[in-house]
Amino acid sequence: MSFDQAEVVRFYEKHPYPYRPAGHGDDASLIGIPSDIRFINHFIFSGTRDFTKPFRVLVAGGGTGDAVIGLGRQLALLGCPAELDYIDLSAKSREIAEGRARDLGLLGARFHTGRIQDLPNVAPGPYDYIDFCGVINHVGDQEEVLRVLAGLLAPGGGIGVMAYGQLGRTGVYHVQDMLRQVGAGQDDVGLARALLSALPETNWHQRNAIFKDTAPEPDVEIADRYLNPSDRAFDVAELRDLASGAGMKIAAFAPPLMYDPVPFLEDQELRKRIAALPWIERCIFAEKFNGDIAMHNFYMVAEATVTRPDALLEAKNAIPIMISVPAGQAPQIINGGFGITMRCGPLVRQMTLPGTDQSPHILRAIDGLKTLQQIHRSMPGGLSWRAFQREFALVYRGLNGVGEMVLSTTPIPR
Ligand SMILES: C[S@@+](CC[C@H](N)C(=O)[O-])C[C@H]1O[C@@H](n2cnc3c(N)ncnc32)[C@H](O)[C@@H]1O
Repeated sequence: MSFDQAEVVRFYEKHPYPYRPAGHGDDASLIGIPSDIRFINHFIFSGTRDFTKPFRVLVAGGGTGDAVIGLGRQLALLGCPAELDYIDLSAKSREIAEGRARDLGLLGARFHTGRIQDLPNVAPGPYDYIDFCGVINHVGDQEEVLRVLAGLLAPGGGIGVMAYGQLGRTGVYHVQDMLRQVGAGQDDVGLARALLSALPETNWHQRNAIFKDTAPEPDVEIADRYLNPSDRAFDVAELRDLASGAGMKIAAFAPPLMYDPVPFLEDQELRKRIAALPWIERCIFAEKFNGDIAMHNFYMVAEATVTRPDALLEAKNAIPIMISVPAGQAPQIINGGFGITMRCGPLVRQMTLPGTDQSPHILRAIDGLKTLQQIHRSMPGGLSWRAFQREFALVYRGLNGVGEMVLSTTPIPR
């Protein structure tokens, strides 16, 4: 598909994304991925960012405003002296984003209409965090845009990305191709729906459980997914190479367990061989193993930046924070395991994580405020710090793996 920037502008003026009709009710509690400040702190800043210091954010390709609103709200709750810049090609999207921010009383963000590529002249940063969610899929030259963004990063900062997953979107591009063959234009949502509802069960789109049920989707979603003038998806190896071309590396994928096949394998030889692969090679393997990653959520940092979020497992002042499970809720351990839901974009998976008799005490004590030392001291049975660390690490590895727990040196309210 050849790239025409004017067509992309025209498309997003007509179909501002995501669809956020007036009166949309969730803005006051909106938190997305990758723009969840708890993940940003964990995966980019190894859980140690001091949010009493200024924090500069760029939302690149901010659409109708989910990230600028979610981040603005989270940073305001932290009392952080934050600066936010938003840019998007689409003036209509900006108008919606600005209106939503105003309605929430989130004042102070700077809104720009234009191309990310022109940011060095408009809003050069530097930025501690750049949100780049769902945009790399629609820019013509990914290398160029990533190089521009990398050049705007402050030392130690990072970029949160959502890029479409090639394998997980199997079938979507077949539908796009068919619609192009019959000359469908940017507004031909009716035609797209007619085709989607006629697809036989044998069609790859219909075999893809993530996408097959399109009837409830709003027109904007149908247009964005099937009539987009510029849309491409990536595999992990391509993302690694794109990051590297911009002098960056992928620090983490979220949720990490989607990118690690080892816990799902029983054969010891297979486990050993995969565990011996470099981390990014395991991720490449995992994408093929799972087959259904339709969105890659990940964090990129400069090649020289070292990130070690798990180092806080050794720190008595580290605070474990649950992402969506309410504080104090302890799942029951049955047969050495407990159930949890893992989400990865549109994908929802029920999982069983390992636990011991001690795990419920640990899980009940986690409230997003208590440190590991305080949780340790609240444990019954006089567990040594070392024994507690082992117990906590088991809980952490599972919950962090499914994207349910992060570590931080400061509390981060929701
Ligand atoms: C699928 S939407 C994602 C919006 C938002 N980031 C989100 O995830 O909700 C893609 C957005 O990227 C914007 N965009 C695409 N290419 C761009 C570029 N080169 N510079 C600025 N914005 C761009 C589009 O206008 C559109 O609003």
